[in-house]
Amino acid sequence: MEKLIIRGGRALKGTVKVSGSKNSTLPILAAALLTDDLCVLEGVPNLRDVTTMIRILRNMGLKVVQEGGRVTVEPNGYKAWEAPYRLVSTMRASFCVLGPLLAKHGQAKVSLPGGCVIGPRPVDLHLKGLRALGAGLKVEGGYVLARARELKGSTIYLGGAFGSSVLATANVMMAACLARGRAVIENAACEPEVVDLAEVLIKMGARIQGHGTPVVTVEGVRRLNGFTHRVIPDRIEAGTLLVAAAVTGSELLVQGARPEQMGAVIDKLREAGIEVTLSDGAIRVRPKRTLRPVDVTTLPYPGFPTDMQAQLMALMCQTPGISVITEKIYPDRFMHVAELGRMGAQVKLEGACAIVQGVKRLSGAPVMASDLRASAALVLAGLAARGTSEVARIYHLDRGYDRVDVKLTQLGADIQRAKMD
Ligand code: EPZ
Repeated sequence: MEKLIIRGGRALKGTVKVSGSKNSTLPILAAALLTDDLCVLEGVPNLRDVTTMIRILRNMGLKVVQEGGRVTVEPNGYKAWEAPYRLVSTMRASFCVLGPLLAKHGQAKVSLPGGCVIGPRPVDLHLKGLRALGAGLKVEGGYVLARARELKGSTIYLGGAFGSSVLATANVMMAACLARGRAVIENAACEPEVVDLAEVLIKMGARIQGHGTPVVTVEGVRRLNGFTHRVIPDRIEAGTLLVAAAVTGSELLVQGARPEQMGAVIDKLREAGIEVTLSDGAIRVRPKRTLRPVDVTTLPYPGFPTDMQAQLMALMCQTPGISVITEKIYPDRFMHVAELGRMGAQVKLEGACAIVQGVKRLSGAPVMASDLRASAALVLAGLAARGTSEVARIYHLDRGYDRVDVKLTQLGADIQRAKMD
């Protein structure tokens, strides 16, 4: 296992390019299961989660080749319509192979994802949506055993207690593409990654309307072709880099992002006193004055993303005043609080609310990563803290960030990757 050794207090400077979106790549790779043709995905980030998804496809017998940012998938003869627990348990997003397998082959055996540190990861909405399309699903031995002679379009309400579901929308939308007739998904997720998936499905010959809005309509077709597609940039990595500039009081130019997909994050950073300007596709960020505390509530897109909650907290921990962070998507997503506390942060949890009393400066300490975005928050805190921090178990970080330590080092940060003793 590896750790990052971060010597805090260094200003960052320069330009950094955002990698492709993890949360767009994963369901699009699953969409390759819907066709017998060659699929080519460009701009794929180099991430552990992408490797896991590739292993799942290979485990089914598909020929998957990854060369740099290009992944090609050739469905050259399935051998198993199964996603095993040993792989799904390491990455819950694997569950989005269920819809495509069911639609293409009429059967699937996919492990239930189980929970993770950010909270239980239920899949009831996925199952509700696929049943509404006529699938027969039963849960046995921790697996979903799915069968469907033919899927049939219907109207499906896919909202849950926490609002829309990104991957349930992806799963059901993919299955509906090969169903007979029209499917209407109400309270669909509007995230840019769902839109990117829909664009790929349309390239494959699917007939989809309303993607990016809460009502998505799919007219089923008989077959789908392959695709060539470049994934959208990762808006969460971009947001994380903006916070890296803010937390170190630096000016940075973040290239390759789509600011129109980052409205809530940019708005919140501006409210905190960070100057954010857009210049031909790049985002320039620089601290204008002393930071101001902000209140934020995480919501489904276009609201403030839950995947940016921990990173914003790292910034607010060093912003004088009281900030209130309310987590409406994963109410338990606060594993980073205790670790930030080891660095001197003053954060009080009240249910799904974190009350942050900003301190002048955090102090470096050995801390433990627990999940993807919590580890990003600890790195950000380490960049600004006085002294040296060690962030252990950074495989969590590598799941969703493409060498972000290298990117930050190239901008002037003092970060070393080392083996954990
Ligand atoms: C996607 O997960 C993202 N992952 C998550 O990013 C992200 O945090 C999440 O959407 C919310 O934006 C990928 O896209 C690979 P959800 P997903 O279904 O689809 C509840 C990261 O850091 N729910 O939108 O699994 C659920 O418990 C990861 O990159 C049900 O109740 O999340 C949550 O409270 C972490 N029943 C809410 O809905 C269900 O059947 C939103 O979850 C499904 C979800």
